[in-house]
Amino acid sequence: MCGIVGYIGPKSVDSVLLVGLTRLEYRGYDSAGIAVLDSGELQVRKEKGKIKDLERLLQAHPVEGNIGIGHTRWATHGEPNRKNAHPHVDTHKRIAVAHNGIIENHFELKQELVREGHVFHSDTDTEVIPHLVEEELKKGMEIEAALFNTIQRLRGRYAFVLLYEKDPSRIFFARDGSPLVYGHGKGESFLASDVPAIVPAALEHYVIENQQWGWVTRDELHLLDYGKQSVGFELKKIEMNVQDLDKGGFDHFMLKEIFEQSGVMRGIINERIAEGGKVVFGEKNNSNEFLSRLSRIIITSAGTSWHAGLVGKAYLERFAKISTEVDLSSEFRYRNPVAEGDTKVLAISQSGETADTIASIYEAKAKFIRVLSFVNNTSSTIARESNSFIDLKAGPEIGVASTKAYTAQLMNLLLYALFLAGVKWILDKDERMRIFDEIRRIPDQIDQILSRADVIRQWAADFRETKDFVFLGRSFNYPTALEGALKLKEVSYIHASGYAGGEFKHGPIALITDEVPVVCITPQGEIYEKMISNIEEVRARKGKIISIHTEGDEKVPGMSDYSFGIPQCSELISPILAVIPLQLLAYYVAVERGCEPDQPRNLAKSVTVE
Ligand code: M6R
Repeated sequence: MCGIVGYIGPKSVDSVLLVGLTRLEYRGYDSAGIAVLDSGELQVRKEKGKIKDLERLLQAHPVEGNIGIGHTRWATHGEPNRKNAHPHVDTHKRIAVAHNGIIENHFELKQELVREGHVFHSDTDTEVIPHLVEEELKKGMEIEAALFNTIQRLRGRYAFVLLYEKDPSRIFFARDGSPLVYGHGKGESFLASDVPAIVPAALEHYVIENQQWGWVTRDELHLLDYGKQSVGFELKKIEMNVQDLDKGGFDHFMLKEIFEQSGVMRGIINERIAEGGKVVFGEKNNSNEFLSRLSRIIITSAGTSWHAGLVGKAYLERFAKISTEVDLSSEFRYRNPVAEGDTKVLAISQSGETADTIASIYEAKAKFIRVLSFVNNTSSTIARESNSFIDLKAGPEIGVASTKAYTAQLMNLLLYALFLAGVKWILDKDERMRIFDEIRRIPDQIDQILSRADVIRQWAADFRETKDFVFLGRSFNYPTALEGALKLKEVSYIHASGYAGGEFKHGPIALITDEVPVVCITPQGEIYEKMISNIEEVRARKGKIISIHTEGDEKVPGMSDYSFGIPQCSELISPILAVIPLQLLAYYVAVERGCEPDQPRNLAKSVTVE
């Protein structure tokens, strides 16, 4: 949460920072600001709201210069208003800081600094940083020593960039716990929370590690560790397509990303299924010997990635016959998981930066459990802190509501379960071939669903005033019900709950009236008849039925007020297809209600606080 950016080079710094911040806006959009050295003087512009609000402020009150820092905020400490917007400055407004993370001991530090006569301007934890540096400078320290002494005093998680009026050729930084990347272009240097903020101008990058600090000039990075030793580093070429970072003609990233899902599936299938039906995971992995012994898997993840984990459990148990538990990352570390036998933790995360999931990885490693992560950002903290990782290959996902990363997670988990089944020699060849045939049909089946998106768009007006939704699914599609409900509430702000169909009669059925639409995920398969019973129960109580059923079903559409068919597939494939109409429902209802689906209120794409 929160995005930070720094730039030094020949270009006008305000426009470089604005582009960078816009690309980081998925990390938070409560307020935004920049600090620039304009003719040797520190100038700060900040505004409540989104980057476009800051842009308007800059049009009215421009700044000029070639060195500066910027911030887009997801509020943790202090209201989301202009006063609390970053960058924050010291008492004499010579030092500016943009920070991502939480300074846990800010209260004690602030009390101490106030006693020393420092004047604070905000309610944030961040503001202690420029004041601590100011205090060190007051004692006669050079800026490098002042910064080093400051970071010794900070507790918590942070990445920050710092501008000092008296040092107009360097941007200082430190990282411990929150992401920070250095980018190098032609005679220009960048610092940012994430690579999209610095492409295409930055050609090479280095991911700053925890407990590293230093400064950048136009031409180079000067890197030190927390023992004050210089650190060597290798710059890597940036491989990112700028087209992936714009809306490509769609009204919103969310819709674009929903429509990208067939292409994402094709890419994963081509990459992972070799001739003869062998599943390939090119990434560094555990030895086959360890994998064939594996007797227990614990999946840890959050939000949509947790729903993917629930489907992953079904795949791993069905194909690889490995007993699998699924934990919310935020709960995992507190239940003191038992580490015994040949256990492996799978951490699933689109961003690779979710603080709860990072904490659970540390917990697992402390118990000597090996961690394999499934991430969409291979230079992320989760990828680097895990023993090995699998690239989800969904491409950059910018909409705050996760869509294509979810189906990419399901596909990769399915293939990983088949890979483990292969290692253990437990799936007969015919069954393997039958599953692979089905998997290869998925991209075209998704295209078929998307070609009928208009059907769902036309439903949306009927739900403009709806207050509550219920989603029901069973077995493989219980997680689909949870995910459908999460998508709808995230982007349309309609209250929605997902339940396992079998649990419905144990309480949630009390919610049903003629004003509550119930989405019933009812594909053909083992649970079909049971879901029909759920539909009957809702109809008996005058609830409205929205059904997602298999094409050609002659029963369910007749029992439904709204119905949408997904192509024929086996039950285990159905979660990948059935979620797509639910993503579309959430999107179109949000737009109908005038909500902004790419930037829902109170949310941020990477949740980097615990
Ligand atoms: O980046 P991660 O997959 O670790 O994120 C986990 C959740 O924060 C995320 O899935 C969240 O629930 C999304 N907003 C869902 O659309």
